Amino acid sequence: MKNCKQEPVEDTLWLKLYKAAEEEAKREPILASYLYAIVLNHKTLEEALAFHLAGKLASSSLQPMLMREVIDQAFCESNKIGEEFRADLKAIHERDPAAYNFAEPFLHYKGFHALQSYRVAHWLWKSGRKGLASHLQNRISELFGVDIHPAAQIGKGILIDHATSVVIGETAVIEDDVSILHEVTLGGTGNIVGDRHPKVRKGVLIGAGAKILGNVEIGEYSKIAAGSVVLTNIPPHSTAAGVPAKIIGKPFAEIPAHAMNQMLNKPRKR
Ligand SMILES: CC(C)(COP(=O)(O)OP(=O)(O)OC[C@H]1O[C@@H](n2cnc3c(N)ncnc32)[C@H](O)[C@@H]1OP(=O)(O)O)[C@@H](O)C(=O)NCCC(=O)NCCS
Repeated sequence: MKNCKQEPVEDTLWLKLYKAAEEEAKREPILASYLYAIVLNHKTLEEALAFHLAGKLASSSLQPMLMREVIDQAFCESNKIGEEFRADLKAIHERDPAAYNFAEPFLHYKGFHALQSYRVAHWLWKSGRKGLASHLQNRISELFGVDIHPAAQIGKGILIDHATSVVIGETAVIEDDVSILHEVTLGGTGNIVGDRHPKVRKGVLIGAGAKILGNVEIGEYSKIAAGSVVLTNIPPHSTAAGVPAKIIGKPFAEIPAHAMNQMLNKPRKR
């Protein structure tokens, strides 16, 4: 195992998150011991996140200390998880108007917890530890109501908003900077085996309840309306809506995932 003991480096995101937790501990004394345990007792974002996720993912038969060792190892040996979860936290902060600081999603958003737990499961899967990866998939599903196969490939800067009932299949691919709302399925049709799940290119916004089925491609910077059933490829920079989904126009925003504009083809009124 790699030796990951190193001096913490300057990490602006962590400093901001820490400060927000400190302020919250002063404002709400009932939360102070919780905030100390999860954030304020730690020196790095990696350390705090590993502690936080281990507490959630552990069970009576797999104790928090053991779970913590697994997560620490994933964070230490993966050369990209740290960059990914920082990009995810920034994505939530920038795109979700309810996330008024970094501490809020870190502490309380189950879409963030599910995604980072998946990142650990994906690392285990790629390292050949498929049994433990599947165990984590089951825990993530039980705890957060989000079912992501550990083999799925998910980029960075991902927002899974609300997160309840999101399902992402084994051969699905999600590129960087994608926003996904609750009750989205990236699933198979049951008609083909092997590579059978959607490929979602960068910058896409997928509305609540959309079902994207089969090995179809959602082109970059497209938008899928809430409740759509997508069964065919969607070209880049398109808005698709309906059951089955049809192209109905072009997104107003250049990057729909960033703009989070839920209106189909119009600018958001501020
Ligand atoms: C599998 C499925 C997509 C249809 O597959 P199929 O039998 O091969 O049918 P096709 O894709 O050829 O579609 C036949 C027609 O029905 C339409 N259609 C297919 N599924 C549809 C759906 N869910 N809702 C509305 N229309 C649908 C198609 O658009 C097509 O219309 P057209 O003939 O006017 O072009 C559909 O039955 C389905 O939704 N299955 C459930 C899959 C699922 O839940 N997966 C999640 C796994 S996690």
